[in-house]
Amino acid sequence: MKVLSVVGARPQFVKLAPVSAALDARGHEHVVVHTGQHYDPRLSADLLRDLGLRAPDVALGVGSGTHGVQTGAVLAAMDGVLDTYRPDWVLVYGDTNSTVAGALAAVKMHLPLAHLEAGLRSFNRRMPEEHNRVLTDHAADLCLAPTDLALRNLRREGLAHRSVVVGDVMTDVCLRTLAEVRERPPALPVEVTGSGPHLLATLHRAETTDDPRRLSEVVAALAGLPVPVVLLVHPRLRARAEAAAVDLGAGSLRPVAPLTHADMLGAVLRADGVVTDSGGLQKEAYLVGTPCTTVRTETEWPETLQGGWNVLVEEPSALAASATRGRPTAPRGAPYGDGDAATRTVVELERGPRT
Ligand code: UD1
Repeated sequence: MKVLSVVGARPQFVKLAPVSAALDARGHEHVVVHTGQHYDPRLSADLLRDLGLRAPDVALGVGSGTHGVQTGAVLAAMDGVLDTYRPDWVLVYGDTNSTVAGALAAVKMHLPLAHLEAGLRSFNRRMPEEHNRVLTDHAADLCLAPTDLALRNLRREGLAHRSVVVGDVMTDVCLRTLAEVRERPPALPVEVTGSGPHLLATLHRAETTDDPRRLSEVVAALAGLPVPVVLLVHPRLRARAEAAAVDLGAGSLRPVAPLTHADMLGAVLRADGVVTDSGGLQKEAYLVGTPCTTVRTETEWPETLQGGWNVLVEEPSALAASATRGRPTAPRGAPYGDGDAATRTVVELERGPRT
């Protein structure tokens, strides 16, 4: 079986790692296409190396742009790639512009399409990720859902016959890396670990960064917290904060560059709490057992809300109470699988398209 993976943004490289290993282990051919949506070394080359991934077979180098320009550039470049490789499956991951572009390219070339991390919904139609995941699910010949709730969403949209739960591949990586990090804690600089109680924060979603008023209110709320807040600065946040003259070093804030994946988990493990608008980090905090505050109105990972491990906060004025709460005592279940989602994904691909 020949599988062609389309990836381009940081979380997709994390998802690619266990899938790539599972495809190799079962003797399949795997072609990796990097769209170039993320190109900063910290979000791309360093991360690929850190995850033990080989260099992509094809690099499209599309870079940043408006949604239409970026999505269109990937789509235009994919025809030639798909024609060259003629894979048995095109595999797309998550909900970025690279995902929907890879999906459209496959469908238009009549190549079987599988969507990993299918069925997640925020039900917020203003989010670019929501458009991307809904369109990709409906284009796909096989929807690989991470959770039972995701499968329920797919069923509700009439996609049950081509959907299956495989578990969450990010959890595969997280559990494996967490075991390594617990055994050999990474030597993180003191700016990242803090010298006492501290929080770890990330902000990068368009809904947070692209409205200057919202951005300055959220940053001011973080800056006003009574504990140091280590802020991992994504390039999008840096660019938007500069444009809006928002100071990312104000008050309690301690801005630092994004971390490698293992270092990030090490930092989550040491922090007293996480504040984020990222989907992946909410889940990682849950798996690690660090309380999380999500600066959004909804989450695609509602399982994390159980027992108070993750709390949604829309109003910046409510951030302090949530971010400084103690560690919940409620037990956490295993809604994201037990670390074998990548193997289950490959087994489902071996069974062929369901349509
Ligand atoms: C993208 C995904 C989002 C995902 C996130 C993970 C979409 C619509 N969004 O958001 O779902 O959670 O990746 O990080 O696909 N930039 C750089 N260097 C880079 C990449 C981006 O400086 O390597 C800056 C540019 O100013 C760019 C901005 O970040 O315009 C936004 O980048 P983009 O790839 O469009 O979206 P992300 O915010 O990274």
